[in-house]
Amino acid sequence: MGSATLPADDAIRLTDLHEQADTMLREVHAGLSRPQKSLPPKLFYDKRGSVLFDRITRLPEYYLTRTEVGLLRRYGPEIAGLLGKGGILLELGSGSSTKIRLLLEAVRPRLYVPMDISRQHLIDSARRLAADYPWLTVHAACIDFTRPWDLPVPGPGRRNVFFPGSSIGNFEPGPALALLRRVREQVGREGGLLIGVDLRKAAGTLEKAYNDAQGITADFNLNVLAHINRRLGADFDPGRFLHEAHYNAREGRIEMHLVCRQQHRVRIDGRSYLFRAGETIHTENSYKYSIAEFQQRAAQAGLVPVSVWTDPEDLFSMHYLTVAA
Ligand SMILES: C[S@@+](CC[C@H](N)C(=O)[O-])C[C@H]1O[C@@H](n2cnc3c(N)ncnc32)[C@H](O)[C@@H]1O
Repeated sequence: MGSATLPADDAIRLTDLHEQADTMLREVHAGLSRPQKSLPPKLFYDKRGSVLFDRITRLPEYYLTRTEVGLLRRYGPEIAGLLGKGGILLELGSGSSTKIRLLLEAVRPRLYVPMDISRQHLIDSARRLAADYPWLTVHAACIDFTRPWDLPVPGPGRRNVFFPGSSIGNFEPGPALALLRRVREQVGREGGLLIGVDLRKAAGTLEKAYNDAQGITADFNLNVLAHINRRLGADFDPGRFLHEAHYNAREGRIEMHLVCRQQHRVRIDGRSYLFRAGETIHTENSYKYSIAEFQQRAAQAGLVPVSVWTDPEDLFSMHYLTVAA
């Protein structure tokens, strides 16, 4: 990864740890060389992937966003009281920085640090936020949160991390623990974590949410191939794959796959991969947690629950945790 802190413009600052093509190439080769071919979910997110994700959040089947937004609206004043005023607010996987808007006026942070891998979308969203909140200092950071990250956040102030969207569900149990530990280190003794976590529920509701009728999730899933073509000069034909998502009850997770429709080969940087008809590329897991399961994982990372909020249908949970004494 390259590292630079540069003024993106007068309104925002940008710390740029954008992933280099050689790192991406290594990960793609590693994933496609496994018996069960796989690709890391971060590869959904180029500019088009981020725009498609925003469309997913507005779909009727995708209960996650509207339920989490409902919790932020309903419990905003209580949440803001726990976060405290005037500190540093960091957001992991900030995307369009939409949900944070529900907290900003009440929390009035000294500094807001949106962090995301989708570089141009991060910059565009940070600029829009800075324009809408002229009093707010915005220091965007393009990072890969699946790797160890440090933040060049200047000055004192209580730090809180906001991690909405149940993105923690995209991590395997071990890496999820590592990420929560990293958050604990970054926020320090005084800080905390506000995190949105999707709850376990009936398979039918889950499978509908990841198989929408308009096919936007399918486009989003297939976008990983277009992204790899563009960044790595591969020759994937997305038309030769189909979107598939199902609930794996044993693992407690939604799995997304791309199913190969007919046998063919794909070339990536001088290497050739055979795809057989019916074979899949596993592109994402979304683990679902009960409240107790998530709190246990957080406890292993040294984070203690302060409050947890849920909606009346118990679809989604929002947790505030602080660092264990
Ligand atoms: C499920 S979306 C959630 C977006 C937004 N926070 C929300 O709640 O609607 C995941 C976000 O995390 C970002 N992301 C995915 N993998 C990442 C990674 N490895 N490092 C940093 N950001 C990542 C994506 O670009 C995207 O904005």
